[in-house]
Amino acid sequence: MIALVQGSTGAVGSELIRQLLGDTRFQRIIAISRRPLGVEAPRLEVRLHQSFTEYGSLSDVLPSVDVLFSALGISQMVEKDPARYREITYDYVLALARSLGAKTRMVFVSGQGADPSGKSRMLFARVKGDAERDLRALLGDRLTILRPGLIRPVVPREKRPLAEVIFSPIAAALTPIIPALSTTTVEIAHAMIQAVTKGGLDPLLSNSAIRRAARQYEAPV
Ligand SMILES: NC(=O)c1ccc[n+]([C@@H]2O[C@H](COP(=O)([O-])OP(=O)(O)OC[C@H]3O[C@@H](n4cnc5c(N)ncnc54)[C@H](OP(=O)(O)O)[C@@H]3O)[C@@H](O)[C@H]2O)c1
Repeated sequence: MIALVQGSTGAVGSELIRQLLGDTRFQRIIAISRRPLGVEAPRLEVRLHQSFTEYGSLSDVLPSVDVLFSALGISQMVEKDPARYREITYDYVLALARSLGAKTRMVFVSGQGADPSGKSRMLFARVKGDAERDLRALLGDRLTILRPGLIRPVVPREKRPLAEVIFSPIAAALTPIIPALSTTTVEIAHAMIQAVTKGGLDPLLSNSAIRRAARQYEAPV
């Protein structure tokens, strides 16, 4: 399979790249990023890109991509301007989805609480919900959506937000009792891969379903 990864420098995206490199079902992994990944491997190709609403420079690879994994996003605590938050969270994702070939699948990392009805008072829930709804209309059953709760990076971020430093250990301790609470980046990466390699997975995965899918993941030897 040929995989395209959007958001490949993030906590989820960088773990996904590590897992894809360990999974020989993916012969070619193309990462689209505004900065280098700091990882080199024979099956990995990094496409440096600056305009995330326009993907003409990928026209040589897009028709042959089997799956787009999208983990691009930003926290509302970091991007406080609602218009800019929407541009990054919605426009950047939809623009790439609209450029995909007719058979390409997509796995999209949304978030717990996303509201496709557009009625939520929370910007995060509305914008992620809008993205889910419009991606589903565009791709139908070629789309799998993940709605994780708190994500705990297995490899720590370069700059750890204070909230993550405080809440990650608490969530790690409580998640065995409350499965909807959190996932790790490895669990998300494994569930994303399962979404395209294993038949019969639901097209919308809750936090608990992500963890269940991840438990069944086995990399081919
Ligand atoms: N973290 C959580 O607890 C959590 C919980 C639920 C849902 N989610 C969702 O899960 C997804 C992945 O989360 P994460 O924690 O892995 O995020 P992250 O570590 O912040 O990574 C975000 C990715 O998006 C890219 N990005 C952000 N702003 C961009 C911009 N203006 N232009 C181009 N690229 C941009 C980043 O690129 P650069 O490295 O170049 O900035 C990075 O590759 C996000 O959509 C997030 O909303 C996260």
